Amino acid sequence: MHDPGQLGSLHLNRFQLEPAVFAAPGRVNLIGEHTDYAEGFVMPAAINFATLAGISPRSDGKIAIYSENFHEERTFDAAALPVKRSGHWSDYAIGVAYVFAGEGYRIPGFSLSLWGDVPLGSGLSSSASVEVATALAIESLIGASYPGPLLARLCQRAENQFVGASSGIMDQFISIHGKENHALLLDCRDLSYKMAPIPDRVALVIANTMVKHSVAGGDYPTRRRESEAACAVIARHRPEVKFLRDATLEDLECWGHEMEPKALMRARHIISENLRTVAAADALLNGDLKELGRLMAEAHWSYSRDFEASCVEADAMVELAADLPGLIGARLTGGGFGGCTVNLVERNEAEAFAAKLGERYAARIGIIPEMHICRASAGAHRVA
Ligand code: GLA
Repeated sequence: MHDPGQLGSLHLNRFQLEPAVFAAPGRVNLIGEHTDYAEGFVMPAAINFATLAGISPRSDGKIAIYSENFHEERTFDAAALPVKRSGHWSDYAIGVAYVFAGEGYRIPGFSLSLWGDVPLGSGLSSSASVEVATALAIESLIGASYPGPLLARLCQRAENQFVGASSGIMDQFISIHGKENHALLLDCRDLSYKMAPIPDRVALVIANTMVKHSVAGGDYPTRRRESEAACAVIARHRPEVKFLRDATLEDLECWGHEMEPKALMRARHIISENLRTVAAADALLNGDLKELGRLMAEAHWSYSRDFEASCVEADAMVELAADLPGLIGARLTGGGFGGCTVNLVERNEAEAFAAKLGERYAARIGIIPEMHICRASAGAHRVA
């Protein structure tokens, strides 16, 4: 169901009112992994997979949320919203209502229909796309209009405070600010950003290892804690270092021996990844695709070896792509521990590349991967 009109009719049949419909995309991160919560740099692009949210008011004080993906409806009392997750898919939507209530808005009753095609648990930010689509829908209902960066923060709070995942700002930010055929270099410290055009001749081939990943699971927060422990060691010597964004590789040479070995490795990844991400944005802006590809490869192996956030399957997907015709750069994208690799590929080779990589992966790992040839897409918006 790519047609927002279809979500509209489905909503009308179920709730007897024509909804306002909003779309919010998932994303692929080209480079800059686990740098966002360290106030560093990321360079994602929104992709042509999205969540659609249709909303209409109700007069009975209830909030009804229906998912066309799960074929299930949940009902809440608008005057007594839950205050934390229940482990259900509806958490991402009701969490957004919860943060709007925290902003001082009285949340009226509403019916919300959701449908999305962002693959779940694949590191393509299905959860952020649900949050952002829901946020635009609720904004329209309560007559609020947040500037993009503030709306991204609000959605991040739904994830941090309600869902309980300690994620950064990247996913929500790019879902809101994405632009067709562009990647976005975001400075996660002050949320300033610049757009970098992705040349026409470059396709985004997303290869799903089919290994499920979860940001709410144990590994993501563990990595975050380890890297923060490394930062605390540096801060003992240089109090101006508040986040790893402020630290340098020289700091690790001076004080790395005071850190737990794992903490040192995590910090080395984050500090070097920040340098690579800024360099990658320059390379993309200068049309130096060779350098961009080199930085992506370096980023992957730093993510795999120092951050230990890859897995056998994702390493294989990157290795098996390396000598295929048309490849510019490949790496594991997103929170890690499974999910997808992103491959920048010469567009005229993209179909053949995807087919060949899929074959090779199936032969080596014994799993048939899903391959998507994507394009960088516009951020969240209202649809007719
Ligand atoms: C997940 C989080 C993001 C970011 C990435 C890793 O997608 O939601 O905030 O930390 O992992 O780069």
